[in-house]
Amino acid sequence: MPAKWCEDFAAQFELLLELKPAVASFTFDILSAAQVKRLHDAGIFVIGTVTTVDEALAWQAAGADALVASGVESGGHRGTFIGAQSAATLEAIPLLAAVVDAVRMPVISAGNVMTGADIRERLALGAAAVQMGTAFLVTDESGVPAVYKERLLAAQGNPTRLTRAISGRLARGIENRFMQQMAAVEAEVPAYPVQNALTGSIRAEAAKRGDPELLSLWAGTGVARARAMPTAKLMEVLIAEINQT
Ligand SMILES: Cc1cc2nc3c(=O)[nH]c(=O)nc-3n(C[C@H](O)[C@H](O)[C@H](O)COP(=O)(O)O)c2cc1C
Repeated sequence: MPAKWCEDFAAQFELLLELKPAVASFTFDILSAAQVKRLHDAGIFVIGTVTTVDEALAWQAAGADALVASGVESGGHRGTFIGAQSAATLEAIPLLAAVVDAVRMPVISAGNVMTGADIRERLALGAAAVQMGTAFLVTDESGVPAVYKERLLAAQGNPTRLTRAISGRLARGIENRFMQQMAAVEAEVPAYPVQNALTGSIRAEAAKRGDPELLSLWAGTGVARARAMPTAKLMEVLIAEINQT
């Protein structure tokens, strides 16, 4: 059995207030208005992650300064906290349009943003910025295990799907043996963070052995378009592409 199921959020929150980063973003749940106020009093800009319009309105009511609108294409975990995770099916562009329409604050678009043309498209649809994950997983500086990076670079088409088998929360990754063998009991595994803690030692051992079949290969639907290069170079390429007319 794991020594603990997860970190103590209350303790992490107090540490955040002490450290006073310029920005703190939250996912998997929402803060209370009182918690947002404490962050604001410490001078911290607060971002909430949403997958539906209802969640956007809830974060607006709690006092968030900006939102990440995370489409179903996104790599890694979904941020859903109202309703069933499986019901939050909006893709990034329709979600962006709906959230921009519903709230009065900057909206950051996430999900399947891989190129400067993608960034330009999101900005044109009302996004204040974009959040990219998968595109950076293949950069030279990425700390993911080598076998994970190899799978990302070998990806063709869309080899990803959503699963709750690995962590107990719906997350998108490249399908591997772990996901396939757990598919039949996926609905029954314990909720996050319990399942996440229970599979942690399997994933750690798989990383040690260099076995991608028992790792979590988190990646978004755009993974086949990820380009391996140093991060600084990727930033230069993205900026050049944004400026192309
Ligand atoms: C391996 C991985 C880990 C991530 N970890 C976090 C995280 O800790 N917190 C968070 O808010 N988002 C996290 N994300 C989501 C990204 O911030 C981003 O929203 C998402 O990757 C966007 O979709 P894309 O992968 O299609 O670019 C993670 C994504 C990936 C792929």
